[in-house]
Amino acid sequence: MAGGTFARPLVLIGPMAVGKSAIGQQLAQQLDIPYVDTDAVVVAAHGSIADIFAGRGEHAFREIEARTVAKAIEAAKQRQTVISLGGGAVLDSGTQQLLEECTVIYLECDAATVADRIARNTARPLLQGDAMSRWEALFAARQPVYERLADIVMDVRSGSVAEIALRLEERL
Ligand code: S3P
Repeated sequence: MAGGTFARPLVLIGPMAVGKSAIGQQLAQQLDIPYVDTDAVVVAAHGSIADIFAGRGEHAFREIEARTVAKAIEAAKQRQTVISLGGGAVLDSGTQQLLEECTVIYLECDAATVADRIARNTARPLLQGDAMSRWEALFAARQPVYERLADIVMDVRSGSVAEIALRLEERL
């Protein structure tokens, strides 16, 4: 527990299917603080992400996402919270600015880590068609952004969710 750093919102970033939600939930439980999954907040208010993309387009989704993330970060300054973001949320410049006031945890992985999960969950609109090559292309484009924003880089290529969350807590 490193004083100032620990009091900031704890924000998990990284590519689709890396485990942001599962690890975030586990970390919040360990720390006994609230957990917010911004994708889940969007879905609760606006319906499924696939339907938002299909009906209103990616641009509309990104606007909703940026507003949702901003609200979650604002609230987390009052009461420390673990927040997991959708894989593309970090592309928004306003979000990038807000992340300067957070402890940003980048979950680092490779294609092998996510392959099974991507094969099982076929709902993600940006992974339609050849899901693995789409994931790889998005990851290649976004990896420099994840790395630039990260305060903590956590390698999640091995270990269970519980093990990774414990390793993460040791680094805070
Ligand atoms: C997206 C990631 C998804 C979701 C949306 C777009 C992306 O979240 O926000 O489908 O652009 O990487 P997960 O990273 O939780 O899958």
